[in-house]
This record gives sequence, structure tokens and C-alpha cells, in this order.
Amino acid sequence: MAGVREADGLICLLTDNIDVGLLDAAEHLRVVSTMAVGYDHIDVAAATERKIIVTNTPGVLTETTADLTFALLLSAARRLPESQRAIRDGHWKSWSPTFLLGHDVYGATLGIVGFGAIGQAVARRARGFDMRVLYNSRTARPELETGLGCTYVAFDELLEQSDFVTVHVPLTPETRHMFDTAAFQRMKTTAIFINTARGSVVVEADLQRALESKSIAAAAIDVAESEPMAEHDPLLQLPNLLVTPHIGSASVRTRARMADMAVDNLLAALDGRPPDHCVNPQVLP
Ligand code: DGY
Repeated sequence: MAGVREADGLICLLTDNIDVGLLDAAEHLRVVSTMAVGYDHIDVAAATERKIIVTNTPGVLTETTADLTFALLLSAARRLPESQRAIRDGHWKSWSPTFLLGHDVYGATLGIVGFGAIGQAVARRARGFDMRVLYNSRTARPELETGLGCTYVAFDELLEQSDFVTVHVPLTPETRHMFDTAAFQRMKTTAIFINTARGSVVVEADLQRALESKSIAAAAIDVAESEPMAEHDPLLQLPNLLVTPHIGSASVRTRARMADMAVDNLLAALDGRPPDHCVNPQVLP
């Protein structure tokens, strides 16, 4: 708060809560540039009212985030974290026909919820695994279906038919808590749930119950409602949950490009030029 008081521009991270209090404290602020594609941490309506430009970093992190989604999917399906733990804990006694059996990825059905750039990048990867790909989004994208080999289905149908369900929606009032007990109960008992979007699209207590009761087989999440997760968060005790610390875009090249983009957006706005990625273009001169 003290830092922004005299500032014309602000570069922030997704962990910074850019709310009315902060915007009012920053009387001179003309631009808020976040080093993220998601801008649910910024009160964009309040910024727009104050004629403050808000920018983000879309595009550059699409493929990197899709890579991590697939890494989580494969790791959860083939139980890599449990395998690693089993060896370290001295449980690898001999080869056994039933030791650490997982789920096949090739040929399985993948349900993608949210079919923006990242959802589509995940669909492209799924083709290499001969997966059947279903998707659900606000609007069907028939023009993409043949090329990506995917089919639009209703949300409930996607949950019921998929072996893997992966989320790629932005956090909005409509998507907040869309994965609750009712959603998990619709999923197969062998299903694996993957979330690299935002923690708050899930009711975490409901996910915990679904994993404990084995109403779904496993989950892999890169995001949580409250980050960082508390050391004693009960979710972290679950053997069928794989958690990573919000590293979806964390490759050297992608993070460097995000940082460059955040700076370019900020400098453009301060110079009176239209930034390349503005989320509230109605405030541009
Ligand atoms: C974003 O940019 O919104 C991601 O969550 C972090 O890269």
C-alpha cells in the first residue's frame, strides 16, 4: 500500500490482491500490469471506473501449462509420487503382478472443461495418446472439432463419461465452486481429476471427501483455494492426491516471456500507446 501511493504504474503478481482499497490508496495509478494470464486477483470493474488500464500476459504460457497438465495426468494415472515414496520407504521388495497398479492413459476418455487456448493445447496432446476427447465450454467450437478430434458434450455428460477430467476455465462468479460433491458424484469411481486452473473452481472439502470415500480414484492439482497450502492441510495427507505448488507456467523461457510482456504492457500504457494485452480496453484513450 505504501509502495503504490506515489506510483503511476504497478507490476503485480497473482498473489497480490488489487482491490478497491489499494486502488484508492494509489491516486496516481494509470496502469496495473499483472504477470499472469488470470486476473481474478484484480478488481477490474473498480479499475475501469477509475480509468486505470489493466493488462495481462496471455498466450505465452499456453503450451507450458498444457505440458504440466499432461505431466500431472500421467503422474496421477501411473501413480508416480506413490511409486517414488514406496521405493524411498523401502517397500520395493521384488517385482509383483499387482504392485502399484495404475490406469491406462492411451485410449482413455479425456474430458476438458473450458476450451480456451490451454484446453485446446491439452486436446492436441491427448491425440498423441489416442484418447477420446470430450469438451465442455460456454460455447461449443464446432469449427475446431474435426482438427482436434474432440466432441462437445454437456457438463454432466462429460463428468459421467470421462476417465480423466481436466479444468481450464478462468475463475469467475459462474465457475467458482463448479466442482462440488454433486460433480464428483457424477464422475466414474475410476476417474482422475486434474486442476491447473484456479483452486476456487473446486470446493476443496468436497474434493477431500470424494478422494477419501474413493468416489473418484485420484486427483492432481497445481492450484489451491488458499496458496500456499498450509503444511497441515488435510488434503496433503491423502495418498491419492498429487499436489504441485502452482507451477503451471514455471519454465525458464515462459516465465521470462511473461515478465517481458508485463513490462512491455506497462511501458506502453505509461507512454500513452495501447498495450498489446489489455483486459479493459474501454479505458484506452
Ligand atoms: C496465470 O498466469 O494465471 C497462471 O496461473 C500462472 O502462470
